[in-house]
Amino acid sequence: MDRPHPDAEPLYGAEAPLDAWIEAARERVAPGLSFPEIRKAVQAVSSLYVERRASVGLGAKTTESAGKRAAFATYYAPLHLLIARRAASMLPDAVRKSIRRVHDLGCGTGASGVGFVQGCGGALEVHGLDRSGWALSEARHTFAQFGVAGRTRRAAIPEALPKLRPGDAVVAGWSANELEADARARLLDFLMEAVRGGNPIVLIEPLAKRIAPWWPTFARALVAYGVRDVEIRFEPPLPRWIERLDEASGLDHRELRARALLWPIEGEPAGGVDEDASSGLRQALDGAHGEGGPGPDG
Ligand SMILES: C[S@@+](CC[C@H](N)C(=O)[O-])C[C@H]1O[C@@H](n2cnc3c(N)ncnc32)[C@H](O)[C@@H]1O
Repeated sequence: MDRPHPDAEPLYGAEAPLDAWIEAARERVAPGLSFPEIRKAVQAVSSLYVERRASVGLGAKTTESAGKRAAFATYYAPLHLLIARRAASMLPDAVRKSIRRVHDLGCGTGASGVGFVQGCGGALEVHGLDRSGWALSEARHTFAQFGVAGRTRRAAIPEALPKLRPGDAVVAGWSANELEADARARLLDFLMEAVRGGNPIVLIEPLAKRIAPWWPTFARALVAYGVRDVEIRFEPPLPRWIERLDEASGLDHRELRARALLWPIEGEPAGGVDEDASSGLRQALDGAHGEGGPGPDG
């Protein structure tokens, strides 16, 4: 659609492609919505996550209205892209250059996959997996918008966890917290297998412990494989759209924050299992399998 959005402002700058992506998503997802309507939806999605009001169906709730879909596609997704890009850039140079394809698990609108590609600085392909048809259709727009070769598959974790090949990496951004405990435990097994097979992994979640109470279990199990548990904090230039929504909604993203499990990391031995740590691994895994209560689920 060529008609400018009524709230459109010239965006541009160092992040011009990001601005253009946001603008296109606003046109597509929320053509009739005003700025205050989108702002309200941003606040509603934020409180759904932060207050964990619903432990079941949270993912579906975040896309149940046009406003929430707009919040997801134009506000949260760009923030996720910036953080995933940062996380991928922490992988060693040689590793980033060796990756040919990234599997984006719970890809949503494609933000983490594209951020990962940008952080690797290469022309890799993204395979996006998600159970939401709406999210996948947005992901296809995202891939096209950033000129990334991408494919999408509508299927659920854990059944559809991919078979990894050499040159494959895995990114899972803000999706593990939406899984049922059992599916999350299968994801953990999958990630350990990935590392054992030499496939880089990046798992990203919010810093807030109550959103990912299972994090220490994942971290313990994966750190035994040389995976690094890191806090990411940085202050990137933000798209003006995000700044406006922040100002209007009382949210503050001047510093972006997340936690990530990353492998490999510069200076870490590649793929070696720390035998001492791995003695506690089975126990940690048993804990993950038996972890009571799902996280925010969708
Ligand atoms: C908060 S969104 C994050 C999306 C994206 N990774 C990002 O960084 O913006 C979580 C995504 O996980 C997807 N999801 C939740 N449970 C899933 C499952 N069992 N299988 C596949 N996708 C799932 C949801 O449909 C949603 O798109």
